[in-house]
Amino acid sequence: MSNAILLAPGPVQLHPEVQKILALPMIHHRTPEFDLILRRVLENLKFLFQTKNSVFIHTATGSGAMESALVNLLSPGDEVLCIISGKFGERWAEMAEVYGAKVHRLDVEWGYAVEVEKVEKILLTNKKIKLVLTQACETSTATTQPVQALGQLVAKTTALLVVDGITAVGAFPLPMDQWQIDVLIAGSQKAVMLPTGLSFISLSEKAWKISETATCPRYYFDLRKELKANKNGETLFSSAVPLVRALDFILSRLKELGLEKHFAQLRRRADFTRDIARSMNLTLFSKAPSDSVTALQLPASIKGVELREQLEKKYEVTVMGGQDKEKGKIIRIGHMGYIQDYQLVTTMEKLALALQDQSYNINPEKIKNESEAWLKARPQ
Ligand SMILES: Cc1ncc(COP(=O)(O)O)c(C=O)c1O
Repeated sequence: MSNAILLAPGPVQLHPEVQKILALPMIHHRTPEFDLILRRVLENLKFLFQTKNSVFIHTATGSGAMESALVNLLSPGDEVLCIISGKFGERWAEMAEVYGAKVHRLDVEWGYAVEVEKVEKILLTNKKIKLVLTQACETSTATTQPVQALGQLVAKTTALLVVDGITAVGAFPLPMDQWQIDVLIAGSQKAVMLPTGLSFISLSEKAWKISETATCPRYYFDLRKELKANKNGETLFSSAVPLVRALDFILSRLKELGLEKHFAQLRRRADFTRDIARSMNLTLFSKAPSDSVTALQLPASIKGVELREQLEKKYEVTVMGGQDKEKGKIIRIGHMGYIQDYQLVTTMEKLALALQDQSYNINPEKIKNESEAWLKARPQ
């Protein structure tokens, strides 16, 4: 058994029970046994999304649910506003263009949250904007967006707030109904703590009305048909039985623990990473740091791509580097999934060792001791 540690911002380490469930003998998805599981999962997803609306399961990665949002809401020629503060904001814009939308780009400096006043100004001068597309956490910069304030703003207009919560739903508070989010999206291999393969989407009543008249072609992701199938206790197409069974375990566990306590566990990991990074003389890249992933700015003397590779090959710790223009300049450490305290300590110790390998002035033993003391002083 490998002792390798995986602290990427997805895919994440799996709970041992999830691993066991995934290895169970296969059952057919049209059986009373699976029907029961599916009904429970669909109900419990509402708890995770904090909504009274239906939540749908797509057998597709997170980008699939992003595409689902667009094909269910857009008509060619529609105007949309994309908040672009990193790689996944760019993805919104690319996808919307593919489906014939006229895209208004609101470019935000990487590492910063959008200024809500700027969004307001754009909406005031462009009354035709139908969708406001954002991330809750822009994973490429480990930055959160002010979703609650955006919800208040967009609710006053005819537009819909569409939130990619792929590294947010299940990681920190994002109550869909309370914050007036019109479309919320989650992904299995991130804060939902499962392997890659499922994504989730929910629509507000306001969004359902728009979806009824939207004219984009849709087939696999047709939520109107999915809703009908779900009402009959089925998914529209074959269900990913092992993943749904594992999801049943995750959701039941979350309900038992309570979302607040679960979020507090992630916040503790994020606080730990930020504090220990500070004593390594590393600074945070983000000005609005997320609890699901932390991005650390590397000193100019450090070769970031080599550092990450070294961490993986020599020290068996997988974290992520920067993407696009931040490649080689930052590293990103994920806080989602099944993580034990000793793995947090080992990650920071190995990071210190990898930095020392590049002649960075650091004492890995001291970092290890500080890490252990930090976690001991703040038990879960
Ligand atoms: C915020 C965000 N959006 C979208 C995606 C794309 O998800 P997937 O790779 O599952 O399609 C990711 C994946 O890293 C993400 O973090």
